[in-house]
Amino acid sequence: MRVTVFGCGYVGLVTGACLSELGHDVECIDIDADKVATLQSGIVPFYEPGIDTLLQNKNLSFSTTATAPDLCIIAVGTPLAENGSADLSQVFGVADLIAAMEKPPKAVVMKSTVPPGTSAKIAAQTGLETISNPEFLRQGSAVQDFMQPDRLVIGASSPRGFALMEQLYAPLNLPAERIVNTSTTSAELTKYAANVFLTTKLAFVNELALYCETVGADIDEVTKGIGLDTRIGNQFLQAGPGIGGSCFPKDIRALAFQSKALDHQLEIVQAVIASNDTHQNAMLQKIVDMCGGMVTGKRIAIFGVTFKANTDDLRNSVSTVFIPALQDLGAKITATDPMGAENGKTVFTGVDWVENPYEAAKNADVVVILTEWDLFKALDLARLAQAMHVPRLVDLRNIFDVQKAVQAGFDYDSIGRAGSIKG
Ligand code: UGA
Repeated sequence: MRVTVFGCGYVGLVTGACLSELGHDVECIDIDADKVATLQSGIVPFYEPGIDTLLQNKNLSFSTTATAPDLCIIAVGTPLAENGSADLSQVFGVADLIAAMEKPPKAVVMKSTVPPGTSAKIAAQTGLETISNPEFLRQGSAVQDFMQPDRLVIGASSPRGFALMEQLYAPLNLPAERIVNTSTTSAELTKYAANVFLTTKLAFVNELALYCETVGADIDEVTKGIGLDTRIGNQFLQAGPGIGGSCFPKDIRALAFQSKALDHQLEIVQAVIASNDTHQNAMLQKIVDMCGGMVTGKRIAIFGVTFKANTDDLRNSVSTVFIPALQDLGAKITATDPMGAENGKTVFTGVDWVENPYEAAKNADVVVILTEWDLFKALDLARLAQAMHVPRLVDLRNIFDVQKAVQAGFDYDSIGRAGSIKG
């Protein structure tokens, strides 16, 4: 099939590159001419394992203007507007371009995350069948997630629409039970439901972790105990510094906004947003407490600024909240991140960047783990402790064993685990 993907951001680029790998003729369109030129020269503007080799596919091209495809896929951003709604201006802008095409495509496919009801509006705007086909890719494993998806969700309004999508994804050879055919509105809500459900799970685990500290339980033991129940499952149960990334924080707020606007407030969704804010504040307080209650004049070494490992993305990362907050309280910040330093330099001011974690720990009053990079998990704790005058470690990903950290000489705090020694 001849496919045009509008938007060369994360979702669009991964989708376009993977569809070309499946044998389709794909052109990826972006209004940013510099980005298009970068992609044409084979350079991926962000870090994502496996995507660079796909860019060499001969049946994949990049341009600022579209030709005449069979399918148009919309994969532009839907950022949060100031009022908390999903800003759909880019989506409607692309729909205008499609509506003006001399030779209209057979259908429009909506990959962007859009509030329920949007695809129907795009169908009305373009006069074309609009299929909702949300993406469930995770940054850091996006190519694998595309090629071996847990499921495909396809929302269409006619047998022809479903048949077109069957043709598009046929090379994946997915068993029928992993393809969920729905209405467009159900497909759109499925995307929000998945992200909000996962966010709810994480917010609950984070709350539970702090409750463990109150009652003297251990979150790792508790999550192991509940995770073996197959109805609960053992994934997405890792306590952390707070939920970040370009999707979860945005999507949960957009759904909260829509539900409020429709006068059908989703109470759990509201509670999860508040719970995550409370949790982040509690995590920040752990850092302050480890510094003896005051961070003024203290040097804090932040290990990891990206919102999770295996990405260079800092969007809605807790580092973007914690670093300015600590600076406002008078702390000096050293930061180290194997992939995020380049972006970090454009996001933060007044931060000293160091490549080597042991160097970063030198002269620091406290080391704070914010991202669960393998590089940090493999650190020699005794060597790290020796680099510091007074070894203090706040591990907000629970990547170290409590006893080992204490044996290495650290005042050590993590989340919801027994045996920590606090500064
Ligand atoms: C998320 C979803 O997992 C994807 O399925 C979805 O397609 C994507 O959003 C999207 O809507 O585009 P992603 O944002 O790449 O993917 O990141 P996740 O791996 O889901 O992590 C999100 C946040 O949860 C991160 O801050 C991460 O550190 C945190 N997390 C995740 C935990 O704190 N604990 C866990 O056990 C798992």
